[in-house]
Amino acid sequence: MSARAAITVENLAKSYGGVHALKGISFEVGRGEILGLLGPNGSGKTTTVTLLSTLQRPTAGAASICGADVVSDAARVRELISLTGQYASMDDTLTAVENLSVFGRLTGLRSARLRSRIDDVVEQFDLGGVRDRRVGALSGGMRRRVDIAAALITRPQVLFLDEPTTGLDPRSRAAVWDTVAGLRAEGITVLLTTQYLEEADRLADNIVMLDQGSVVASGTPGRLKQQAGAAVCEMTLADRADTGRVLERLADLEVIDAPDDSAASTTHPRVVVRAPDGMGTVREVIARLEAVRIDVIDIGLRQPSLDEVFFQLTETAR
Ligand SMILES: Nc1ncnc2c1ncn2[C@@H]1O[C@H](COP(=O)(O)OP(=O)(O)OP(=O)(O)O)[C@@H](O)[C@H]1O
Ligand SMILES: [Mg+2]
Repeated sequence: MSARAAITVENLAKSYGGVHALKGISFEVGRGEILGLLGPNGSGKTTTVTLLSTLQRPTAGAASICGADVVSDAARVRELISLTGQYASMDDTLTAVENLSVFGRLTGLRSARLRSRIDDVVEQFDLGGVRDRRVGALSGGMRRRVDIAAALITRPQVLFLDEPTTGLDPRSRAAVWDTVAGLRAEGITVLLTTQYLEEADRLADNIVMLDQGSVVASGTPGRLKQQAGAAVCEMTLADRADTGRVLERLADLEVIDAPDDSAASTTHPRVVVRAPDGMGTVREVIARLEAVRIDVIDIGLRQPSLDEVFFQLTETAR
């Protein structure tokens, strides 16, 4: 364990009666890093955030923020961190600036100092155009930005963002991504939870994948993709009716993804198989499909996506 880590988690566990929400997880986040805590519904993401931000106490194990223990040194931890919860905590009836002011006051900022911090975050998050608009009238993405701005009004060392983009449309999501990426430049350590692989892949230096309260994988996005094994051969078929014949022809290859038979979809079906011999496998696949005159619109070799890694890992854990 490194004393210089921003977040250290060791065998952290939390049970609610008979529900073991976290079954002893361990990881570390370096200062200034962005960690993506990834997992499906109920995997323990919010529980981890509430323990690290001292909102609840662990059942077992330990965690610290910049060396301060979350149980024995909780007051110090609260000075070091800030949290944007899974459910936005803004007051809809107040304007953006009024909400920022409420947050600032809660953390002890007053008068000129408070006004100057509000101006700072309004500029940093490009909120000038909405400062005097009621938060209830803002788009989801803009609301999220006000929410993150409020969490940063105290200049925390460590920021927790619990599912910052869930429920946002792609454009708003991209705006929040820019905001989070900007925090890196400020040297703030960020732990963000997400259900979106793409989000973790884009933003995080390291990823911890949770499933049912346990860590199922961790590492850089690149390493996790490598861990998923050899490259894959992805093909798009011209005719959905060919799917069964294709799978028959490729029966000796590991199927990573194939269209669901029952799905009456109008899109061209996509089949993904493991390519242990790289381009050799792709050539072999083409030869076999040509031999039985199956039309392929597109075929190629690529690395497995984080999505495929995740499904593979959570499936083997079950
Ligand atoms: N206060 C509580 N009392 C009882 N069980 C709880 C409580 N809080 C969480 N749990 C349970 O702990 C498990 C983990 O929940 P948690 O909220 O941490 O998951 P999550 O990964 O944040 O999920 P989501 O993606 O839905 O937000 C779930 O089974 C949940 O039902
Ligand atoms: Mg949650």
